Amino acid sequence: MAFWNKNVPNSSSSSKCFPILGLLSLILLHPTTTTTTTSFANAIRVVAIQKPTYDDIPSFREAPAFRNGNLCSSRNVDKIQIVMPVDANYIRGTMAAVLSILQHSTCPENTSFHFLSIHLEPEIISLINSTFPYLSYKIYHFHPNRVRGKISKSIRQALDQPLNYARIYLSDILPEGVHRVIYLDSDIIVVDDIAKLWGVDLGDKVLAAPEYCHANFTNYFTDTFWSDMNLAKTFEGRRPCYFNTGVMVMDLDEWRKGGYAQKVEEWMLIQKQRRIYQLGSLPPILLVFAGNIKAVDHRWNQHGLGGDNLEGKCRGLHPGPISLLHWSGRGKPWLRLDARKPCTIDYLWAPYDLYRSSRIALEE
Ligand SMILES: *[C@@H]1O[C@H](CO)[C@@H](O)[C@H](O)[C@H]1NC(C)=O
Ligand SMILES: *[C@@H]1O[C@H](CO)[C@@H](O)[C@H](O)[C@H]1NC(C)=O
Ligand SMILES: *[C@@H]1O[C@H](CO)[C@@H](O)[C@H](O)[C@H]1NC(C)=O
Repeated sequence: MAFWNKNVPNSSSSSKCFPILGLLSLILLHPTTTTTTTSFANAIRVVAIQKPTYDDIPSFREAPAFRNGNLCSSRNVDKIQIVMPVDANYIRGTMAAVLSILQHSTCPENTSFHFLSIHLEPEIISLINSTFPYLSYKIYHFHPNRVRGKISKSIRQALDQPLNYARIYLSDILPEGVHRVIYLDSDIIVVDDIAKLWGVDLGDKVLAAPEYCHANFTNYFTDTFWSDMNLAKTFEGRRPCYFNTGVMVMDLDEWRKGGYAQKVEEWMLIQKQRRIYQLGSLPPILLVFAGNIKAVDHRWNQHGLGGDNLEGKCRGLHPGPISLLHWSGRGKPWLRLDARKPCTIDYLWAPYDLYRSSRIALEE
């Protein structure tokens, strides 16, 4: 906490950069091959993903009301539409993410949230209501039938949850009046004005995200994929670059028009039969879009902070300015903090944690 306050004042000032904690300027996308410095060596081994019972639904502190700055009634201000998944396992992450977005927005009252949920638990909805009484939001049902029989086992069970696939179907789930969204995973915090990401000019593209063209693309697909001429030629005529699907600006009208949900599904069906990749919802989206997106600055997705998919080893930050931190990978900051084995970067997440343990709740 002290660390945070010293270096990154809680203002909505957006030009602040994070201190570079660890100069792991190695290949972004292969955390298993990066060397961890000793200060990040507190790896946490077992992070069980359990389906919580309603007894486990945590309690949260009420967030303050965030009010618009003076410039927000100008004609140029857009209503920013943010989509996030919400479920009992990740609710603590979602709450922290929402708080971080509001806290750094110049026009927080012009931000709308769209939550996707499989169970639509009334407990979760009332938690959102009580934690953010002033939040403009809607919650939508994502029916797991949509992807039933289409998901194949990946290397990490958490990646196989149907809700991970909901991002593919946003153009069907959200009302047609919503033309553009920012999709965000729930293991992120935003430390800059989200309006800057919202304002990206998509040009003729359907998606915008940070792009990593130096990543070795070969490793995202299996030999089965590369050795089949018909499959491998998918990337002909484009330079495929990796991007992370946890942070995307999406044009839903174009997504709908282009039938992209079906295109991604087609790859999921091929995967079922031939195992052409090892990860979950990311590779089929790469197959459709890699090399054909609008690239935005890397500061908008400092990903991999959860470590690799197998062990969740601690990671440092990559050099450069940061607007969004993303704990993708196996480790989640709230679990590591609770286990008293936090990684150094988890202290950057902690100030946004609204969780109130039951013990503290009893004391009040
Ligand atoms: C943004 O919020 C202000 C209230 O501060 C409101 O007057 C304005 O209409 C809102 N703009 C949009 C696009 O929602
Ligand atoms: C949450 O708040 C909304 C809007 O105020 C209200 O319609 C809904 O009934 C509330 N739900 C719960 C479960 O508290
Ligand atoms: C990418 O990885 C593959 C397999 O690991 C390797 O054969 C290839 O040489 C690598 N390409 C580059 C450009 O490093």
